Amino acid sequence: MVSVRPSLLDRLLRPLHRWVWSDRRRRANKLLRFAATEADGGHDLSRAAELTNDALLRQLYLRHALDEHRHARLFRDRGLTLLTECQNGEASWSRFEANWFSPGERGLDDLRVDKDPQDGLLAFLHLSEKAAARRFCIYQEVLVSDPMTQSVFRDVLKDEAFHMAYTYKQLARVSPRRHGWRLWQARLVRVWKAYLRLMVAVASVIGTALLLVQYFLLLPPFALLAKRGALKEPPGWWTRRPASSLKSQY
Ligand SMILES: [Fe+2]
Ligand SMILES: [Fe+2]
Repeated sequence: MVSVRPSLLDRLLRPLHRWVWSDRRRRANKLLRFAATEADGGHDLSRAAELTNDALLRQLYLRHALDEHRHARLFRDRGLTLLTECQNGEASWSRFEANWFSPGERGLDDLRVDKDPQDGLLAFLHLSEKAAARRFCIYQEVLVSDPMTQSVFRDVLKDEAFHMAYTYKQLARVSPRRHGWRLWQARLVRVWKAYLRLMVAVASVIGTALLLVQYFLLLPPFALLAKRGALKEPPGWWTRRPASSLKSQY
């Protein structure tokens, strides 16, 4: 089996990962989210198997799809068990899932099986499987306090290591001359998408800050003026003044 190690950044951020996974309800929610991502990945790979003319790739994609569906089941079962265990309403920070920091298999990217060429798809798959294997490695390391969830990640990790290895091998077979370039292209696309997501997040923060400034600094003077105007009005019902000229129809 190919050996997988967490990335240097994840190793440095180990205490943060430990904190993210320490809350039981959040752990349950994250596992259920991971299950949905895995199932989605399984559907995409079944579609990739349908579209390819390469018999070996079709076989591998189908096995890959079955693996992803199995992962979805494992994550869902464990997530539901954890959720049942915390039905007693224990206080938690579960709403905060930190998905940008500790995402599931595809991170925040989606497969584009209909649009990407065969080698482009393999390059993308290789990078995302590699990232997933490294992430699952750190998750299982920090889950010492929950051996059941830890064993789920350990189990899934074996398949992810296989996915990572076969996608690279097939990429080199399908595109012997250009596989290095394809990997760089896929890396650049991932960096570009990460940049776009970051910019969307920054824009959202700036938008929220501007709305808060408007609410607390611009609206109060108008509210005060409206209040003053209201004080000048006579209280209760009052008779409308008669029309001053015959210019109006009424
Ligand atoms: Fe998976
Ligand atoms: Fe995978």
